[in-house]
Amino acid sequence: MSDEGYFGQYGGSYIPEILFNSQQQLIESFREAMADASFLAQVKSEMQTYSGRPTPLTYCGNLTEAVGGAQIYIKREDLNHSGAHKMNNVIGQGLLAKRMGKKRVIAETGAGQHGVATALVSARLGLECTIYMGAHDIQRQYPNVFWMKQLGATVVPVTTGSATLKDALDEAIRDWCTHYEDTHYLIGTSCGCEPFPEMVAGFQSVIGEEVKEQAMAQIGRYPDRIYACVGGGSNACGIFLPFLDSEVELVGVEAGGIGDGPGEHAKRFNTDQARFGVAQGYATKFLQDDQGQLQETQSISAGLDYVGVSPILADLEEQGKVRMISARDDEVVDAFKRLMISEGIIAALESSHAVAGGIREAATMQVDESIAINLSGRGDKDIFNIAKALNDVAFGDFIEDYLSEAMKP
Ligand SMILES: Cc1ncc(COP(=O)(O)O)c(C=O)c1O
Repeated sequence: MSDEGYFGQYGGSYIPEILFNSQQQLIESFREAMADASFLAQVKSEMQTYSGRPTPLTYCGNLTEAVGGAQIYIKREDLNHSGAHKMNNVIGQGLLAKRMGKKRVIAETGAGQHGVATALVSARLGLECTIYMGAHDIQRQYPNVFWMKQLGATVVPVTTGSATLKDALDEAIRDWCTHYEDTHYLIGTSCGCEPFPEMVAGFQSVIGEEVKEQAMAQIGRYPDRIYACVGGGSNACGIFLPFLDSEVELVGVEAGGIGDGPGEHAKRFNTDQARFGVAQGYATKFLQDDQGQLQETQSISAGLDYVGVSPILADLEEQGKVRMISARDDEVVDAFKRLMISEGIIAALESSHAVAGGIREAATMQVDESIAINLSGRGDKDIFNIAKALNDVAFGDFIEDYLSEAMKP
């Protein structure tokens, strides 16, 4: 990373003047905390004793046989407390907020996984918690909204724009501008102004560090390729960055949505609809129209439905150190089913993008090669969307019966 949070031409800080002092305090506190062995030990201890790290690296023999190519391993971030990798970052930033003497945290959330992780850690650390969430995402991820509220968080529906993640992020920044003295903005992905991209990627790097050790113990060498889904980019940064100096090929899988037209996907790479831009406090590749207005995005998964991308990944892709591919909604549902049926693992729809990309390419590889797929989260939260995608009539009937019963006086 260069000075002032740049990664090549991407990153930086494009923030309102009012946030300057607060941001400087955050940068300093983060640097001090990362140099303090007792803080790092506290983060590690919470990751182990609260979240359940290390998460396993699971060999998928049945899926490997069915696909017929490289050996497939899955990194089980779904087994974190809260059911996703988001917890790694929230533990780190939650402890940092306490260290800075903040009383309140705010966060944006897409799939709700980051919102739930933030609400859980806030309850544990005694922090007041407000979560901004697009109204559209609230509809598709209501079980997570329910838990955030039960945990004592205030969930603010965001109805502007496409009512998804980018709009929630805008609102969170607005809140931070007016409450910066007592509030830490606990961003959920490695985007935003300095030091957020580096900070989130740093707390998530535990994923790749563990894979290194586990691969040596279980395979005897590193996997040939590693796959991760890419929304804002935090789980991808987390598993990729520790392998940057190795021979391992790093492959990000974006949301291909329902087509290649504007508003039909959330691909920031391999499309001429995304280009360099500055928004939401940082510079990166944004999906935008000819006038530079941020474009609508579309994905079956709320967590990949984002218009920008980590400046770290934008730079690594430009340098040829990360390759980006995409998977469309129908391929994702198919991959979700194949992993579930063959291995008994219920993946989040976000993570199923990585599974789709991984199995598509594993089929073209040799049997003595291996791949690791980052399973960023578990799929329980997606039960409504999956039931709909699989046309599960019985589930629809159950919901109807349940609701008509629940509405009775
Ligand atoms: C399970 C899961 N995976 C992946 C993502 C995408 O985020 P990121 O790209 O920051 O890892 C999300 C975001 O909500 C998520 O909930």
